[in-house]
Amino acid sequence: MRLREIADPDHLPALDLRYANAHPALSLGAADPPPRILLLYGSLRERSFSRLAVEEAARLLRFFGAQTRLFNPSDLPLPDQVKSDDHPAVHELREHALWSEGQVWCSPERHGQITGLMKVQIDHLPLEVGGMRPTQGRTLAVMQVSGGSQSFNAVNSLRLLGRWMRMLTIPNQSSVAKAFQEFDEAGRMRPSAYYDRIVDVMEELVRFTVLLRPHTAVLTDRYSERKNAKGSIELVPGLAPAAPRAHR
Ligand SMILES: Cc1cc2nc3c(=O)[nH]c(=O)nc-3n(C[C@H](O)[C@H](O)[C@H](O)COP(=O)(O)O)c2cc1C
Repeated sequence: MRLREIADPDHLPALDLRYANAHPALSLGAADPPPRILLLYGSLRERSFSRLAVEEAARLLRFFGAQTRLFNPSDLPLPDQVKSDDHPAVHELREHALWSEGQVWCSPERHGQITGLMKVQIDHLPLEVGGMRPTQGRTLAVMQVSGGSQSFNAVNSLRLLGRWMRMLTIPNQSSVAKAFQEFDEAGRMRPSAYYDRIVDVMEELVRFTVLLRPHTAVLTDRYSERKNAKGSIELVPGLAPAAPRAHR
């Protein structure tokens, strides 16, 4: 069990360290590499609460011993606007996704749905690219922010998308209502039940990521793919090359 005692990873004024430190959280050994978590947000507003929420989540993940990367989607083209394989922002997003063992997706709710920007990012992540799978078998935590009362439309859509991308979405989730009330001038989240929920979700994400780490190859290994992949019968199960799929 290891909860990193960090002198000052990032200042965490809203976290009650008495409980965070005392929690028997992670089954990480000293030699285990930190879980690698990619965080995506869904708005380009200068003071975007979905970005501020994932920044807060990233600080917590680092506190729990993870490595984090935040993708800035501002340079992303629309799908098919340019040849996406040539676009540096698409390359960068895919590279981050391939690097990740787990992801956090946080969308604003707009008109009862995730934002187009959130969906664009997910649409730029293929199920397979050159035999590599940027999302399959990764853990996923879903979050949303909204301007109105608490709702779950965006997280429900993200959960559905997580299934489509064959990710292992954790049970807990975060929905921050009236997000404009929850962040201070410096962009830090005020102490609240919403903040505590984000702590819960990040703690759970790290746990699931560490627990599933030894099993991701077998969890993404499929009979139909082994059957369709020519010559794969001789290969070690779980290491068979990806085969074209008729349907998802
Ligand atoms: C076009 C539009 C539609 C919106 N629709 C909803 C909605 O359906 N429900 C809601 O609670 N808030 C809605 N909002 C408010 C946003 O969820 C809120 O401003 C949120 O903070 C935006 O995320 P951001 O700060 O990351 O940009 C809407 C805002 C806009 C601009």
